[in-house]
Amino acid sequence: MCGVIGYVGDAEAAPIIVKALRNLEYRGYDSAGIATLAFGRVWAEKDIGKLDQVCQTHQLDSLPGSTGIGHVRWATHGEVTPVNAHPHFDCKREIAVAHNGIIENYQELRTRLEHNHLFVSQTDTEVIPHLLEEFVDAGASLEEAVLKTTKLLRGSYAIVAVSLKDPGKVVASRKDSPLVVGRNDGKNFVSSDVLAFLEQTNRVAYLEDGETVVLTKDIVFLDAEGRQLQKEFREVDWKCDEATRQGYEFFMMKEIMEEPHAIRCAAMQDKRLLLEMAIGILRSRQVVLTACGTSRYAALVGRYLFSRLGGKFCDVIMASEFQYFSDSIDRNTLVIAISQSGETADVIEGVKRARANGATIYSLVNTVGSTLARMSERVLYLNCGPEIGVAATKTFMSQLTLLYMLAFTMANQMDEGLAKILDICPKIEKCFSKNSKKIWGLAQRTKGSNDFYYIARGINFAIAAEGALKMKEISYVHAEGMPAGELKHGTLALIDKGTPVVVICPKDYTYEETIANAHETKARGAFLIGVSEAANPIFDDWIEVPSVEEIFQPLVTVVPLQLLAYYSAVARDRDPDKPRNLAKSVTVK
Ligand code: F6R
Repeated sequence: MCGVIGYVGDAEAAPIIVKALRNLEYRGYDSAGIATLAFGRVWAEKDIGKLDQVCQTHQLDSLPGSTGIGHVRWATHGEVTPVNAHPHFDCKREIAVAHNGIIENYQELRTRLEHNHLFVSQTDTEVIPHLLEEFVDAGASLEEAVLKTTKLLRGSYAIVAVSLKDPGKVVASRKDSPLVVGRNDGKNFVSSDVLAFLEQTNRVAYLEDGETVVLTKDIVFLDAEGRQLQKEFREVDWKCDEATRQGYEFFMMKEIMEEPHAIRCAAMQDKRLLLEMAIGILRSRQVVLTACGTSRYAALVGRYLFSRLGGKFCDVIMASEFQYFSDSIDRNTLVIAISQSGETADVIEGVKRARANGATIYSLVNTVGSTLARMSERVLYLNCGPEIGVAATKTFMSQLTLLYMLAFTMANQMDEGLAKILDICPKIEKCFSKNSKKIWGLAQRTKGSNDFYYIARGINFAIAAEGALKMKEISYVHAEGMPAGELKHGTLALIDKGTPVVVICPKDYTYEETIANAHETKARGAFLIGVSEAANPIFDDWIEVPSVEEIFQPLVTVVPLQLLAYYSAVARDRDPDKPRNLAKSVTVK
């Protein structure tokens, strides 16, 4: 999703901004641009395409000046065209603005401004520099203009702005879209993502909704009324080398390989916090888990664990639908929100409404200090370092680990649970070495298939759905994951000769029934890929997974499915790290 960066410092801005944009590339984007201030003018270049290409064509890193802003755009309003790329400008090209989010009332503002302002793009963003222009022309400083402008905007925004009349200054403001400020001797940053400037500093402070920051050689925080705020800077403990590929061709493979380590890191939680949260879950009248995408599949596994180990039923509601259940969310509700980024707009919106109804919020988050973490009474961090591949892999494993830890604690078995989880890690490592070559062969063999089905029962149903999601998002192949028993209620009509059906069937109480469902597909000509610790003659291909206790199966069955999606993407010449149309952090609704 879009990424913004603002910089003021001693060094030349452009190379630093370009590097920051490179660090933001993983979020997904379709165009890029930067603007700097120097020699009494705004220097700016922007275009569609990959950053390297835009840099090469427009020599982005040679723009002069030590103050500037940059943006990678993921189109929402207006097509992917050079003119719609950010930054956007006022009429005189003295003010430049980059923006993440959506200005909901931009049409109304544009109609009002159009009679004396020249609009050149189709974006919602362009109203912002023109509004700033009005206030700056009336004598306001850039920060005063930003404060006045933001009062007129409806929707979500993280804005960074520079103005010729205020050289050496970047002003940024946020509502419902993240902004983090970084400070280093002589270099100040503001960005939507700490990874943008992590090589330069890990000392950060977060802006809350309605707050503004003024970067010069100093950093000043303002509230919505322009009053100065004191904010503490803290250190993020992510390391920059965690955000490099370290010899792997793609981040996704590196991150899959990091899974055993990620599980170990996630399992090491503060015991007291775990206990408090487990008690909170057990005592709440109703517990709702909410999340999107892969995080929601983790929640579905969690629901099963809470019931199985903790004897507590809870519901899982897709975050984008959560608001429609607000009538039954009250102070007796505990909401557990799961989000790798902690910035997913649907999750934040659902949690906001639940909080307004008096619900208690717990969250499971990877990004320290993210919006969701700051909105929660209690937070468990995944502690697995940054995940750069758009497809969630190691963070899914970490989310599962936290859910296991909570469920075992609910059952008063925290230490036994921890020991058992740690025991699984070497088995996952073995699973990589044993299966990688085989799965690559399978990906080659199924290269011509454009429909995949994944079936499972019980705790593995969510894994079938997750396997299908991974396949869809990075290979662009239609895939569906479902409870095996559901097949014959409709989907079976789609099974044809050679259709790949992935059957996740550990040798447990679901085995016989799942195999029976697999037979139903085989009878229609399906190509069966078994994921199990046991071979079965009906499998056309068999991926052997280690034998583990039934409740731990998701931790071993998901690994080959991640690898199958990865190798299928590579076999089809797709970039698994940057799937088309998708973004890492989905900050719009
Ligand atoms: C799939 C994937 C997405 C995310 C979803 C939620 O691989 O990455 O489905 O899981 O967008 O993101 P977070 O966890 O950041 O809220």
